[in-house]
Amino acid sequence: MSEKKHQVSRRQFLNYTLTGVGGFMAAGMLMPMVRFALDPVLRPADETELVQVVSVDEITDEPQRFDFKIKQKDAWYESEETKSAWVYKEGDKITALSPVCKHLGCTVGWNNDPSNKNRFFCPCHYGLYEKDGKNVKGTPPLAPLDVYEHAVKDGYLFLGKAKPRGEA
Ligand code: FES
Repeated sequence: MSEKKHQVSRRQFLNYTLTGVGGFMAAGMLMPMVRFALDPVLRPADETELVQVVSVDEITDEPQRFDFKIKQKDAWYESEETKSAWVYKEGDKITALSPVCKHLGCTVGWNNDPSNKNRFFCPCHYGLYEKDGKNVKGTPPLAPLDVYEHAVKDGYLFLGKAKPRGEA
């Protein structure tokens, strides 16, 4: 091999240098644009605001199902989603449970199984929960129903996100 092959010509040196500098400048111009485009995706999701659901006067000690709508923002897309909650009170304490079964996500009902009075029942695989949302051992669900964060204001119940027990 000749020694000439290992040398970088002036033309090659200029090519490498200009390519490197050009690439660096292009990256400097593109990065802000990419950052701007991805910003809504990278930003943490907004905490769902509490939504007015029902007058506290309508809440009884028997769980009742209430539907409500929440606004959802997924990056650039905003939508409305209908949610449900099983709500009851014991004295002044209000409990709002998610109807989503912790087994595979079917919807649980209250007192909808004649052989299991005063329990939440999931018809998909016969899952059972006590009134307070705790899963009945020996049935498919392995965790209690999620609990909605809630607040009472001006005589109305407001609900937020449903969270696993312990987080709520
Ligand atoms: S989805 Fe509820 S028991 Fe399976």
